[in-house]
Amino acid sequence: MPPSETSPLLATVQVAPQRYRYPHNKLRRACTYSLCLLLAAALVLFLLPSALLPREGGSLWSYLPGAQPYPKYWPSGNGLDYDELTTILLGTPSAARAREWSKYYTSGPHLTGKNLSQALWTKERWEEFGIADTKIAAYDVYLNYPLDHRLALYQGGNVSFEASLEEDVLEEDSTSGLPDRVPTFHGYSASGNVTAPFVFVNFGTYADYEDLVNANVSLAGKIAIAKYGRIFRGLKVKRAQELGMVGVILYDDPQTDGEYTEANGYETYPDGPARNPSAVQRGSTQFLSFGPGDPTTPGYPSKPGAVRQDPHDFIPSIPSIPVSINDVLPLLKALNGHGLKASNFNEWWQGGGLAYKGVEYNIGPSPDDLVINLYNEQEYVTTPLWNVIGVIPGSLPDTIILGNHRDAWIAGGAGDPNSGSAVLNEVIRSFGEALKAGWKPLRTIVFASWDGEEYGLLGSTEWVEEYLPWLSKSNVAYLNVDVAASGTRLAPSASPLLNKLIHEITGLVQSPNQTVPGQTVRDVWDGYIGTMGSGSDFTAFQDFAGIPSYDLGFSHGDQDPVYHYHSNYDSFDWMQRFGDPEWLYHEACTKIWALAAAKLAETPVLFFNATDYGYGLEEYVDRIRPAADKLPSGLSFDFGPLYEAIGKLQKTAIDFDAYAADLTSQLAEDLPWYLWWKKVRLFFLIHEVNTKYKNIERQFLYEQGLDGRSWFKHVVFAPGLWTGYSGATYPGIVESLEAGDVANAAKWLYIVIERVEAATKLLQ
Ligand SMILES: *[C@@H]1O[C@H](CO)[C@@H](O)[C@H](O)[C@H]1NC(C)=O
Ligand SMILES: *[C@@H]1O[C@H](CO)[C@@H](O)[C@H](O)[C@H]1NC(C)=O
Ligand SMILES: *[C@@H]1O[C@H](CO)[C@@H](O)[C@H](O)[C@H]1NC(C)=O
Ligand SMILES: *[C@@H]1O[C@H](CO)[C@@H](O)[C@H](O)[C@H]1NC(C)=O
Ligand SMILES: *[C@@H]1O[C@H](CO)[C@@H](O)[C@H](O)[C@H]1NC(C)=O
Ligand SMILES: *[C@@H]1O[C@H](CO)[C@@H](O)[C@H](O)[C@H]1NC(C)=O
Ligand SMILES: [Zn+2]
Repeated sequence: MPPSETSPLLATVQVAPQRYRYPHNKLRRACTYSLCLLLAAALVLFLLPSALLPREGGSLWSYLPGAQPYPKYWPSGNGLDYDELTTILLGTPSAARAREWSKYYTSGPHLTGKNLSQALWTKERWEEFGIADTKIAAYDVYLNYPLDHRLALYQGGNVSFEASLEEDVLEEDSTSGLPDRVPTFHGYSASGNVTAPFVFVNFGTYADYEDLVNANVSLAGKIAIAKYGRIFRGLKVKRAQELGMVGVILYDDPQTDGEYTEANGYETYPDGPARNPSAVQRGSTQFLSFGPGDPTTPGYPSKPGAVRQDPHDFIPSIPSIPVSINDVLPLLKALNGHGLKASNFNEWWQGGGLAYKGVEYNIGPSPDDLVINLYNEQEYVTTPLWNVIGVIPGSLPDTIILGNHRDAWIAGGAGDPNSGSAVLNEVIRSFGEALKAGWKPLRTIVFASWDGEEYGLLGSTEWVEEYLPWLSKSNVAYLNVDVAASGTRLAPSASPLLNKLIHEITGLVQSPNQTVPGQTVRDVWDGYIGTMGSGSDFTAFQDFAGIPSYDLGFSHGDQDPVYHYHSNYDSFDWMQRFGDPEWLYHEACTKIWALAAAKLAETPVLFFNATDYGYGLEEYVDRIRPAADKLPSGLSFDFGPLYEAIGKLQKTAIDFDAYAADLTSQLAEDLPWYLWWKKVRLFFLIHEVNTKYKNIERQFLYEQGLDGRSWFKHVVFAPGLWTGYSGATYPGIVESLEAGDVANAAKWLYIVIERVEAATKLLQ
């Protein structure tokens, strides 16, 4: 890892308005107490008589004299009891309807900012379902659209291969041949026309490039060919650029396809489950781990007229292009016999999946008379995008937010993201049925259909940046579903506060896999919950605003048909034939999402578990400890004080969870009416506990942000600096250790300890 840079963003964040201040707990507590007192007085003096009357509507009343106790009838004040609500949420979602929504979303192009009619259509559906308050939230974002491209191989001055840069039009796949289909290109790639020798750089990870530098392979002035996978694609381009390379070509090697490959004897799509060799993975080359969102407005919303900055700290300045197996084969074969072989390197370089096609995986560089011409022309514009935001107002201002993005790289996107979009519509339709049956939620529920996710989480990031003060105050949790179904493997990642929720809810939904009759999603799941990195719309919520989040869906496992991620073949027809032919994984994901939202919205004491956070924090330290073992000799690092602080937090959290559980059981007690004041007291105690639960995650925000990437405020979770997608835990500490900077690691250790202590204090 390189030493951290000084922050180009710091200044921006510091001069920005008050909204960037994070909650001051003492002040808040004082305010809450005085408010509580006032409210209590008001309740006793004015509201008591009405509370004694039969209740209708307002859930607050359910805490007052005569209220039906939770959980038997609670919240009877809300028109439906909890069991009736869950019956509707489990009974409404339908595989057939999910298929219908998928059919719509995947029938035409919907690249970021290019399809207003899909946003309006979504808004209309939600209104029909019964979400009266549905709006379009627009931002003006800076991004690129493809104009032209070329990739050719020159041998001795002659063109020996001209890449098609096109995916095959398949009769069996109706959107693969649309006249207005989206060309193959990279989001945020630079325009350019370069002709140069080329080098195979494996997966293009930081370590891969280091291996090449150590082997004295000449990189400056060359074009890199890298396999997709292991890290976010933009970081492959970033490192190539830093090493003086002039262009990057990326492709999907069958090595990462699992069981179903042509080499293993399987037919390719559309005849079989293996990868179609003309498939191309589009995608963003933004430097995601340095800051998502509009790269010209880091930390503040891209409203029309917003001040714009040079985006080049966040996007590449060298051109890149994605290609298919068909197009990369002649290039890789041309390297045969030139330079070292991948097999001469360490274990990270082994196992290329095109050996059966005659590729020897030589590194190169190619000789000077064997060059690639890479020409990439992009149009950069500042253009509107459209989030759709729907609200079901609750009795309390606290909010649960559910989000999925709608934009795709292609006309299809049946997996990414429109399996999630179809499911979101079914979730909303189900809640709509509950509303029609008279239900009113205790907490407010917000639905978001984001635009611009693919380029760099644009729609969600700008929205969170705009509404940060409100979100800090009221947002209990953010539940993200990006890809709801691209396979059969449940693969959640989450803040540990939500572990309990995921375990609970997956046990209530039948698995589409009924090999063992009656088994639930939890029965088939391996139980693993990943840490929060980046790569989808939860990032701004979790890492910037400190809102506990999850990302959940059924992903592609090694035993599932190959998923043509970001290719024309992530299509309705693929989904129907291979991905989820009965649409049952769509249906299961709907039920999980709806029940999770209902649990968070309706349970009087928030369905969080602080102890799990405490255990998570300890496990994450165990995980990063090896970074200290790799320090140069003579240097050492002591995690003891952090373990100690976490130990204290765990003790406090255990007591706190027990206290919260006790309040829940007190709610269930049937009290005689003249002890009504006990219920009122209980209401205030529960309110206090909930406020603390809500604020645990916020305690882990550090206002100055991480070194060199100050947009990221969370001291426990961030995308790995050089991985992008996957979560780094305690990024400040681990990145300093990896750079051999013990003093900076110590600085971060104490920042983290301070945050852990703040969380402990909150829960005392
Ligand atoms: C927008 O999306 C719809 C539905 O997928 C599609 O029919 C339409 O062609 C798209 N419009 C544009 C302008 O691409
Ligand atoms: C390039 O093409 C010319 C004309 O066809 C031919 O004479 C020459 O030998 C070719 N050079 C190489 C290196 O193939
Ligand atoms: C790219 O540059 C080469 C010279 O290096 C030139 O011959 C070619 O026409 C250029 N391509 C385009 C599309 O401008
Ligand atoms: C790389 O070059 C350096 C300096 O020229 C030399 O000391 C080193 O042995 C070389 N390493 C390899 C792997 O060839
Ligand atoms: C289906 O369930 C069985 C029994 O739990 C399990 O062994 C199998 O791996 C599951 N298959 C899939 C595709 O999930
Ligand atoms: C919280 O989580 C811990 C550890 O997973 C568990 O032992 C405890 O019972 C949970 N408490 C509640 C109230 O769910
Ligand atoms: Zn997506």
